Amino acid sequence: MNHTHNIIIDTDPGQDDAIAILLALASPELHVLGITAVAGNVPLQLTHSNIRKVCELVYKTNIKVFAGTDKPMKRNLVTAEYVHGETGLNGTQLPEPSMPLQSKHAVDFIIDTVQTQPEKSITLCTLGPLSNVGLALEKAPEIAPRIKQLVMMGGGLFEGGNVTPVAEFNIYVDPDAARLVFESGIPIVVMPLDVTHKALTTKKRIEAFRALDSTVGSVSADWLDFFERFDEDKYGTDGGPLHDPNVIAYLLKPELYSGRHINVEIETQSALTLGMTVADYWRVTEKPRNAVWVTDVDADGFFDLILKRFAQFN
Ligand code: RIB
Ligand code: CA
Repeated sequence: MNHTHNIIIDTDPGQDDAIAILLALASPELHVLGITAVAGNVPLQLTHSNIRKVCELVYKTNIKVFAGTDKPMKRNLVTAEYVHGETGLNGTQLPEPSMPLQSKHAVDFIIDTVQTQPEKSITLCTLGPLSNVGLALEKAPEIAPRIKQLVMMGGGLFEGGNVTPVAEFNIYVDPDAARLVFESGIPIVVMPLDVTHKALTTKKRIEAFRALDSTVGSVSADWLDFFERFDEDKYGTDGGPLHDPNVIAYLLKPELYSGRHINVEIETQSALTLGMTVADYWRVTEKPRNAVWVTDVDADGFFDLILKRFAQFN
């Protein structure tokens, strides 16, 4: 099969990141050129280890994994063990990885790949803070026009924030990097809390993972049982939002989603609203439209896609 998308996944696993990575690895339409680790949910040395644990879970030990930056561009790292557990993949115990970490820094891998691959052939899929991409743009701004698109999980408008009343975690951790990305001119598709909060891991859906009757199915169900308890308590819902796999699902079945092309800017100064995605959804300004802001998903279609792809893992 010809690949539809050549992608680099930048990620901070995180149980939801792990599901997203597995979805990408289960999908022949996607050519995963490499997976880059960023500090976020847990520190860098855990995120790059967790990526390799996930790849080894499905025997994809040929995937190139790179370590990136261990902190935001200008600020101290904020982590989320309170959501993901101290390993970042709490819910189940996976063996320490034996596949190698690439020696090249993730930022240099991103730059070199974009500069050597055909222009407009690379899609960046970011599932965590944008620190690696921000550093790449700072070091080599000339890569921006060469990037086909950047599909990210981050931000929030109608759903507010999840680490402050107005800021979502991935943007809040590194607002300076996010600002660089949104000002870069790269075609951006945003999966904010506005859409991920419509993709809830209900008990019925978690049982469907378990019913796959496979290692991947039961590990995924165990991850989701752990990861979603925090959001279930917070929002009082049956299940919590499954954030990051929406980035990959969008590439596989964009028809599951709808949104608007709008202007989005990032607050980087105010202590009160730091990391807010100021999304001009109703276009009340004439500011340039720099991002597709996704607000709706066919949630049943989304989970069906994941389950059908996971069923292919033996
Ligand atoms: O706010 C949700 C985002 O923060 C997700 O990417 C989750 O993995 C965490 O990184
Ligand atoms: Ca993440």
